[in-house]
Amino acid sequence: MKNYIKYHPWEIIEEGFNTELNRVSESLFSIGNGKFGHRGNFEETYTGDSLGGNYVAGVYYPDKTRVGWWKNGYPEYFAKVLNAPNWTKLSIKINGEILDLAHTKVIDFKRVLDMKNGFLIRNFSTKLKNGICVTVHASRFCSLDQDDMGALSYSFTVDQPAEIQVSSYIDGNIKNEDSNYDEFFWENIKSESNDNLCTLILRTKKTHFYVGVKTETNLFINNEKINHFQSLKSSTNSPSVSASFSIQPNQSITIEKKAIVLSSLNVDKGLIDQVLVNEISSFQKLCYEDLLNNHKKAWAKKWNESDIIIEGDIVAQQAIRFNIFQLNCTYSGNDERLNIGPKGFTGEKYGGSTYWDTEAYCLPFYQSTADKSVARNLLIYRYNHLSKAIENAEKLGFSGGAALYPMVTMNGEECHNEWEITFEEIHRNGAIAYGIYDYINYTADKKYLAEYGLEVLIGIARFWKQRVNWSEEKQAYVMLGVTGPNEFENNVNNNWYTNKMATWCLNYCEESIDWVKENYPTDYQRICKVSDFDENERKAWALITNQMYYPFSDKYNIYLQQDGFLDKELIPVSQLSDDERPIVEHWSWDKILRSCFIKQADVLQGLYYFENEFTQEELQRHYDFYEPLTVHESSLSPCIHSILAAKLGDEKRAYDFYLRTARLDLNDYNNDTRDGLHITSMAGTWMTIIKGFAGMEVKNDQLIFSPLLPKNWESLSFKIKFRDEIQHVFLDKNGIKININ
Ligand code: BGC
Repeated sequence: MKNYIKYHPWEIIEEGFNTELNRVSESLFSIGNGKFGHRGNFEETYTGDSLGGNYVAGVYYPDKTRVGWWKNGYPEYFAKVLNAPNWTKLSIKINGEILDLAHTKVIDFKRVLDMKNGFLIRNFSTKLKNGICVTVHASRFCSLDQDDMGALSYSFTVDQPAEIQVSSYIDGNIKNEDSNYDEFFWENIKSESNDNLCTLILRTKKTHFYVGVKTETNLFINNEKINHFQSLKSSTNSPSVSASFSIQPNQSITIEKKAIVLSSLNVDKGLIDQVLVNEISSFQKLCYEDLLNNHKKAWAKKWNESDIIIEGDIVAQQAIRFNIFQLNCTYSGNDERLNIGPKGFTGEKYGGSTYWDTEAYCLPFYQSTADKSVARNLLIYRYNHLSKAIENAEKLGFSGGAALYPMVTMNGEECHNEWEITFEEIHRNGAIAYGIYDYINYTADKKYLAEYGLEVLIGIARFWKQRVNWSEEKQAYVMLGVTGPNEFENNVNNNWYTNKMATWCLNYCEESIDWVKENYPTDYQRICKVSDFDENERKAWALITNQMYYPFSDKYNIYLQQDGFLDKELIPVSQLSDDERPIVEHWSWDKILRSCFIKQADVLQGLYYFENEFTQEELQRHYDFYEPLTVHESSLSPCIHSILAAKLGDEKRAYDFYLRTARLDLNDYNNDTRDGLHITSMAGTWMTIIKGFAGMEVKNDQLIFSPLLPKNWESLSFKIKFRDEIQHVFLDKNGIKININ
């Protein structure tokens, strides 16, 4: 655990330059606007340890799979979100020496993420090797107001007369650190600079996405605009303009840079160049401050919809705002082709692809804080991938329209290649069906079933039907060779969570068929036709739901995670020594698989979903059995445990797990924040407050709250969009107040 970020209700603050933590800070100081975003890398040259990261939503590369031993059914590629051209770059030379904090003496340094206004600030003073002291004030943002645009302002002074050379460029020489074959993924289409403008258009190899970036750089000395820029003739991937001049200690230099970032997802390839020209000129009259003000207004609107106010606990307050901030930077929900990668725009890990995380963790946040269309778009994303999910199932030997959604995807195709996950972690199909239920239950948009949902549910139901088999021995249906949410056990039989999800899906599909048939008969006919669905299929589904096997222990009176779980040596996590943790970094995989240690909620994930089917005693018994065996080495784990602890009235554990999920990155609990932030678990953090501490659920078309306020919180308040109303919820020691408008 690290603890170097200063507490503040609206800011993330790093004081002093922690070179060894630079990658962690680069993740923490990431910003984005749903369409593009980047890590908190420096504008000026930095040759120290750093993970450069700029990402454009939906732009990926199918990196050729690398595996030790090929297995039939493996996908050919692993999609990678691409490190894209970086518009923020500057090079500053002072008396011939490049400003580079890796080689200068840092006198003071402060980075601030102003979450309220959505922008990044960096102030520092440093002494160059040539003896000149430079003081810099830099800030930048990715505009929420105009989501094709970003801008930066970079001001500096020196303590002695000096010759300055400033270059402003777009860095197109970018690589992914996790490229499987160390390839360069881009091809140059256009690189040009003239006057104070730079243009770079690159195209991805294979997928042929175009990304176009155009920047306009202006120079001010003591706030007076001067234009000394000259373009450097080059056909490289990094078009640049530069200016040389002398300055005195009483003069302040400001570089303002505006950028337009476009991709062929939104603009016709042949028009990108022209649209770049049009858009940059439309901002020509606006200075950095004007653009920033518009951006701040857009953030004020976002906060008005999604803020959570915690009084009396700054540690908790800062953390929830950080989580909400990053969620809003990642996904804006106006494009059904986009989704939420586990790292958003903050890192390369997980390839920027879509996981079950979206439906299981992210959907509720967007459902409750944004327009209904946002959550609907997340569901339509999967609807649009249905035919690929059917193909995916066919590759594994399923037939008749059975759909297996991918564990990891960009375009609907599976792109993950660990057999135990790709082929066996099939519970993701359940989360996708549950997402449909959750959305309809929350929004009452039942028509969604007739329009899109039912086709998906039928494909999923058909998959479960074929994936189970009848066991003569058990006289029940069983599901063999699966991986549950706990990825620390593979190829197990009868993972309770997966079996439970399968029967729930079959039942929900049956209910949905009846409802659509009755309420939208024409749609029902259409669906039967396109899905080639025959009512007779339902007979087999009913048999499975009635006779599914669920592993149960009479001794402990609990559902078992899988058939063989009690054969394991049951040792509580508390007996592990600190130097063995996280076990995934210290133990062999073989040792992990044979151990009883659970990576993340598994049976408890099921209890979280289907809580209403269990008594408090049953919930408690399962929690008491499984939590002590859980190492929480997935970021998705603490949030579910916090919610369940709150349901059980266990304030202490609910709060401890809240901090663990909410400050997972701020305190780097899992020692991996350097790779990027855990965006999808941030939505889980939001759930710990809304579903956990406020105890919100929808029952019989009504919002119900069963609050449990942490002892050190004076009050908790937030707004929730429910159906067409905004509910203002205020909770303190005297109880809960809800106002509706
Ligand atoms: C978790 C998965 C999750 C993935 C992406 C893994 O570590 O075990 O459940 O989908 O991370 O967040």
